[in-house]
Amino acid sequence: MDTLILAIESSCDETAAAVVKNGRTVLSNIINSQIEIHTEYGGVVPEIASRKHIEHINQVIGEALHKANVTLDDITAVAVTYGPGLVGALLVGVAEAKAIAFARHKPLVGVNHIEGHIAANYIEYPELEPPFAALVVSGGHTHLVIVQDYGSYEIAGRTRDDAAGEAFDKVARAVGLGYPGGPKIDKLAKTGNPHAVEFPRGQVAGSVYDFSFSGLKSAVLNYLNMCEMKHVPVDKADLAASFQCAAVDMLVTRAIRLAEERNMKKLAVAGGVAANSALRSALSEACASRGIEFYCPSLGLCTDNAAMIGAAGYYEYINGVRHGYDLNAVPNLKLGERS
Ligand code: KG4
Ligand code: ZN
Repeated sequence: MDTLILAIESSCDETAAAVVKNGRTVLSNIINSQIEIHTEYGGVVPEIASRKHIEHINQVIGEALHKANVTLDDITAVAVTYGPGLVGALLVGVAEAKAIAFARHKPLVGVNHIEGHIAANYIEYPELEPPFAALVVSGGHTHLVIVQDYGSYEIAGRTRDDAAGEAFDKVARAVGLGYPGGPKIDKLAKTGNPHAVEFPRGQVAGSVYDFSFSGLKSAVLNYLNMCEMKHVPVDKADLAASFQCAAVDMLVTRAIRLAEERNMKKLAVAGGVAANSALRSALSEACASRGIEFYCPSLGLCTDNAAMIGAAGYYEYINGVRHGYDLNAVPNLKLGERS
């Protein structure tokens, strides 16, 4: 019998619901994005995000069921992101999932948002099975991981300061590109020279797999200040391309090193920054020249969505994970941690 997961995601500024069959087949994937609202403020405003989730969540779930051509009776279990993320935003999804599970007597499965990002690869590549190495790069997280099995992770490296997406967003703001910065830098960088400014590729003492983006971010800010003081015009495209080149370099060298040192024949990338065109092509080339299979979700599965939560939720469900009606939002939930 098929396992149908109704998945709900509300950890940041997307209200999303999906119906996923047997972990890999997406029957529907509905997203209500608040990006335009938050753009006015230059970033996500948590209180507004929570309020908009409340306004949209019922409609988004209704659409997901309708598009999948199922009713709540057909659903096997309800999966919901319960962390990490903004506490008020997470709570909207968690409360909704608990209400549906309670009213319809369905099992409730809490899902870790970062595990969801990794699971986007299971949807894109139905043949992909653990073990594999994974680079998770989003607005809040930068992790290098060995996915040992479904729901089982070894964290080999992480950022010591800013997340990769945060660095993109902060640099974009400094250059005056606005929010969200990642896609804007990506687009502008296409017309710039990536070697116009050689920015530092931050190393972390004592760890070959950890990342540090604060040095790179400061170098960009110092460069902008220096140009202003000397009245030198800034070529924004060159700056975007040079910053992106340094950030991508830092990500690719560590990810490839991990795959090679741990003898992984597969490397997957995940999270919003995985939508970056320079990162995708650099990883793809580096993997191809070393005989490593490269996995990369399509753009819509890289950024926040509920289909990925349905895929991760399916494997949690068949692994026997169940949550009670006391499930709470855990804003700083770690990868591989369960509450
Ligand atoms: O995974 P995600 O949608 O939300 C979080 O879980 O954080 O990631 C959002 C992040 C933002 O920082 C955004 O600027 C970045 O992903 N991002 C990109 C691109 N598209 C989104 N960064 C670089 N290049 C892109 N094309
Ligand atoms: Zn995310």
